[in-house]
Amino acid sequence: MKINTVSTFPRLIKEATKYGIVSNAVKNKLININHFSLTNDLNQNERIDDEQYGIEPGMVLSYEKSYRLFKKIKTLNPNTKFIFTSPKGIKLTNDLAISLSKERSITIVCGRYEGYDQRIIDEYCDLEISIGDYILTGGELAACVLIDSVARMIKGVVGNQNSVKSDSLMNSMLKGPVYTRPKIYKGKKVPNILLSGNHENIKKYLRETSLAATLNKREDLLENAKLSQDEVSQLKSTKQSTINKNIYIALVHYPIENIKGEIIKTSLTNLDIQDIARSANTYGINKYFITHPVKEQRMLAEKVIKYWSNEKVRKNDNTKHSSINKIIVKNSLNSAIREIRKKHGTKPITIATDARMVHNMTSYSTLRDRILNIDEPVLIIFGTGWGLPKNTLESADYILKPVGGYYEYNHLSVRSAVAIILDRLLGCKF
Ligand SMILES: C[S@@+](CC[C@H](N)C(=O)[O-])C[C@H]1O[C@@H](n2cnc3c(N)ncnc32)[C@H](O)[C@@H]1O
Repeated sequence: MKINTVSTFPRLIKEATKYGIVSNAVKNKLININHFSLTNDLNQNERIDDEQYGIEPGMVLSYEKSYRLFKKIKTLNPNTKFIFTSPKGIKLTNDLAISLSKERSITIVCGRYEGYDQRIIDEYCDLEISIGDYILTGGELAACVLIDSVARMIKGVVGNQNSVKSDSLMNSMLKGPVYTRPKIYKGKKVPNILLSGNHENIKKYLRETSLAATLNKREDLLENAKLSQDEVSQLKSTKQSTINKNIYIALVHYPIENIKGEIIKTSLTNLDIQDIARSANTYGINKYFITHPVKEQRMLAEKVIKYWSNEKVRKNDNTKHSSINKIIVKNSLNSAIREIRKKHGTKPITIATDARMVHNMTSYSTLRDRILNIDEPVLIIFGTGWGLPKNTLESADYILKPVGGYYEYNHLSVRSAVAIILDRLLGCKF
């Protein structure tokens, strides 16, 4: 594979490729690296950068000066793929490194200052690659990372290709812990199974430790990992033992706003009783509070609950019964909060939901991280009618962003919204 680099400091990249596996790959002619300097062909007093148009500070690498060099490289290597290093590019991954390792020639372009004039990027760039969500002062280090990660995917570069195949991230999984001699050091032992010589058992152990490491450190990877049904069940039950079991939800029927913004009571909906209870059960919610100030409405809710709790129904459909058990009927949101406080000795963290945009809303990823791995009680509050009134929203610790598509219309039934919101906050990703 032929690799060209274009940069202001070619020596920086040259130096980094002088060591270890990459340098051997160069010696063994598996890769051939040429370095081009952006400043080499400049006339006297010419600069590669110039002031940026507009109102922002910072210098930009000039179209005209880079064009001369890019044209020269393209003439020498007509089929080379121009890769611009940039924080705006697609993220470098193992899979991307594998696909680039199949190219015959790549030209890695490194920026400095504010990067290149957009017109040269539009003309030459085949792919923009970022090595992570942070800003470097220049692309040279990104080029080194790219060369290293791509080179080791080329056949013959790493002595034992099997070690590449079993690396972390290869199958959307992390590798488990590894050990070497001595067998015991300061009383700490190497796991017996690794010393057993039983290949089948060792293979099983390596898979199990790899799954455990991935769940522990990079659960997001598991979404794309090939897992058996048994493995999914095992991972779910491991996860279950660590996550917050004190998450509650409440469905409020008063105080609620109507379309005119007036405070009203809404009436109970039979489907909201059963369907939300099933969502609560699916996502491990501790209890589902239905709150209504009107006694007859509460009695109606109790009647439905009683029907589904009935022994005969239970025998026929235990799934409904186990969900209906989650429901507690209360006369107000405050009495639900008091009940949680009494049980846990502390006020729950409250999260209000609304279909309208208000200021200070919190994202799902932020709240997921905040509530899933703690023990403190959490109460997620859902409104009916046209939504929870302003003072209920403002007194909550957090207000979640509305869910919906890319369209103006987002009038979901509350039971649909509950299912979507619980999935975003508490849903399994693998
Ligand atoms: C200071 S950065 C320019 C950042 C630019 N002001 C912006 O906000 O997008 C200068 C150069 O460093 C390189 N660079 C910076 N961060 C990078 C990253 N995360 N991945 C790859 N290259 C990066 C690129 O070559 C970039 O042109």
